[in-house]
Amino acid sequence: MTSLMPPAERIWWNVPIGREEIVWIGLALVWCLILFFMMPYWHIYGKQNLSNEAYQTTPAKFGEKVQAGIDQYTVREEVGIPVVHPPAGSDVYMLGRLWQWWPILELEKDKTYRLHLSSMDWQHGFSLQPVNINLQVLPGYEMVLSITPDQAGEYAVVCNEYCGIGHHTMLGKIYVKE
Ligand code: CUA
Repeated sequence: MTSLMPPAERIWWNVPIGREEIVWIGLALVWCLILFFMMPYWHIYGKQNLSNEAYQTTPAKFGEKVQAGIDQYTVREEVGIPVVHPPAGSDVYMLGRLWQWWPILELEKDKTYRLHLSSMDWQHGFSLQPVNINLQVLPGYEMVLSITPDQAGEYAVVCNEYCGIGHHTMLGKIYVKE
């Protein structure tokens, strides 16, 4: 019999389930439950999930905050992009838009910052390399995460959410100073 043919037994749901099928359903159910409880378990013990906060905002409001940070703490420019060095322990702002991350941030090692992220237009993906921190960046939402860079160096921000023709050029930078 194939699935194209009507079942031999019209009232097929009254036919007892085969032993093998019961075993497979049981296995699938147990596996579902394991994966389900892994979610909270991994969130607490897995150490790689970000406990970030999200707030509603608008591109205009968020843009103002980013600009305020740029006006106050720009220390130099790199290829036309301001490099912002905010005070240690403060709130720092970065926006994503077609097709750049703005501005460049310069942070200090072993200091904790609250990093605010949002998008000016549509969905972008904030991927911090090489540490592999990933976040969705959406217009209308302000994502906030506490970060404590523990290694000095130059980090790349790569957009990992396809956002159009310039997606592959959407790169940003975060410096961490000793
Ligand atoms: Cu922004 Cu891809």
